[in-house]
Amino acid sequence: MRSIAILSFFLFLFMSLPAESPDKIKVGEESLGTKKYKEFQKPGLCGTSCHTDIYQQWKQAMMSQAYTHHWDEIEYFKLAIPHGEKDEKVAKVADGCNGCHAPMSFMAGDVPPPKPEENSRANESVSCDFCHTVTGFKGEIPHNFNYISDPGRVKYGPREGEVSPEHITKKSEFLRKPEFCGTCHNEMNPFGIWVKSTHLEWKEGPYSKEGVRCHDCHMTNAPMKTALMGKEYPDARQHLFHGAHDKGKVQGTIELRIHPESREFEPGDKVKFTVALFNQKTGHKFPTGSVEDRIVWLHVEAKDSSGKTYHMKVDEKGFEGEEYTISTDVLAYQDMGIALDDPDFKGVQRDGVPFGDRIFRMPYFDPQGRMTIQQWNTKSLGVDYRIGPRETKIETFTFLLPDEIAEGEVTVTATLNYQKLVKPVADLLKVPGEATEIIKVNDHSTKITVFYD
Ligand code: HEC
Ligand code: HEC
Ligand code: HEC
Ligand code: HEC
Repeated sequence: MRSIAILSFFLFLFMSLPAESPDKIKVGEESLGTKKYKEFQKPGLCGTSCHTDIYQQWKQAMMSQAYTHHWDEIEYFKLAIPHGEKDEKVAKVADGCNGCHAPMSFMAGDVPPPKPEENSRANESVSCDFCHTVTGFKGEIPHNFNYISDPGRVKYGPREGEVSPEHITKKSEFLRKPEFCGTCHNEMNPFGIWVKSTHLEWKEGPYSKEGVRCHDCHMTNAPMKTALMGKEYPDARQHLFHGAHDKGKVQGTIELRIHPESREFEPGDKVKFTVALFNQKTGHKFPTGSVEDRIVWLHVEAKDSSGKTYHMKVDEKGFEGEEYTISTDVLAYQDMGIALDDPDFKGVQRDGVPFGDRIFRMPYFDPQGRMTIQQWNTKSLGVDYRIGPRETKIETFTFLLPDEIAEGEVTVTATLNYQKLVKPVADLLKVPGEATEIIKVNDHSTKITVFYD
């Protein structure tokens, strides 16, 4: 009995995300204005004379665009800053964005930084010299830019005994730890809600127990000369940081299989199809990170032998909050009206994908209980219907074969799609097309045959 009680206590500890008071957000805030830009070297210096390959990889990754990328710029300048000016509760949040997106600007006290078009040092985003001079983090849980930064001659790296004409090189265990990534990949907002928890999801999942780190999937090992005058290492860390903005990384993340309950039917019959969705690739949930923006949906369509197509609605399971996981024609995101100076703003369509499709998401709610894409204005979270690492989710679709369906083979295809930003929001805020490009994660088809009497 006692051992069961102890076990369930530990299970409880393990299953509940650490609860923290919003006061602890202040840990990261303490570093505002504590450094100067000139203490940090520019990425061009590291990249042109020495670390050429790594520099070119970083240039292509979102790390070098965390401040300048179009959606970041729009969300920061059109929503977060104006909202902060009008609402005391979220007043400080807009400064904090920079703690992760432009960490040097935050530490230099340059907030809000000049707009990207002004080409200031904020544009360096998450740079070489920022990461390679971090020595640890403050507090117990890495989150909200609670990294410890110590810029200077010493650069920290993964190897012992490196010699460089430019700087002193020291080995750091911390850089190699997922907690380092967690200082920016976990975020708690002013309401005490975990609005980003990629590192915590990883920690709860199977990969952390096997010692598979963030780096092993996002900074993979391969032969490379890490510095022009250095030697080639067989296991050099690639600075790819490929994620949601890399189609190839997203494709194949989930494997799909669809099958019917039987193979032969007549018009008027009901056929049940089952879809299994297996998360084989991500080390955290899918989607993760900016969960408030992302949308993943399962679309199932039948095509009869005459080429006519029929769309199927997902079978409801009846769990609490399910209405947020089935696409429908409702309006949401009304809280953008505050920043947009439109108190009567009615919102825009919640999903922008075919009605009746299953959506894998976790809704974020504003203080009035309406769905929001403004993570800083999130007071509660809804049902977590995302696909966990190595989890398999099952969905069913019941198809009533219409009287007019053509005789012969019917092909039924399940497609899982992904968009980085819900389209109605992107359309409203004029976010360029890349954010709403539909990425096909995977698809699979099966066949049944229709006979006439
Ligand atoms: C100083 C904060 C910071 C640290 C530390 C950090 N990141 Fe990030 N990372 C960001 C920000 C900000 C973005 C978002 C860029 C954007 O989309 O604007 C990002 C984006 C990413 C992406 C997504 C790219 C995409 O295409 O969507 C990956 C993958 C990633 N980081 C992995 C890592 C890993 C692995 C580590 C640890 C080795 C790490 N990050 C450490 C701030 C950080
Ligand atoms: C087993 C491999 C694996 C591990 C381990 C892993 N990831 Fe990922 N990660 C992926 C894949 C695959 C994707 C692309 C699909 C997606 O967007 O979720 C991804 C996506 C991401 C994204 C983009 C999410 C978005 O929507 O912007 C970020 C950020 C990220 N990972 C950070 C991390 C961090 C931080 C860790 C460690 C705490 C980590 N990953 C561990 C495989 C992994
Ligand atoms: C988001 C943080 C981050 C950024 C930005 C970043 N690095 Fe790194 N870098 C790391 C981490 C973490 C490792 C070690 C990974 C490991 O060993 O698992 C590393 C490793 C290295 C190494 C050693 C590679 C090896 O295998 O010996 C060099 C050299 C390096 N980085 C240079 C750079 C340069 C130059 C830039 C800018 C163009 C840069 N880094 C940008 C985090 C970063
Ligand atoms: C604790 C660190 C942190 C803070 C604070 C933070 N972000 Fe982020 N943000 C990230 C990371 C990491 C990502 C990238 C990947 C992901 O997890 O989706 C991201 C992604 C984004 C994206 C999506 C980019 C894309 O291309 O899809 C936007 C937009 C964004 N952040 C804006 C903001 C704004 C505005 C604020 C302030 C209100 C803010 N962020 C505060 C770390 C942070």
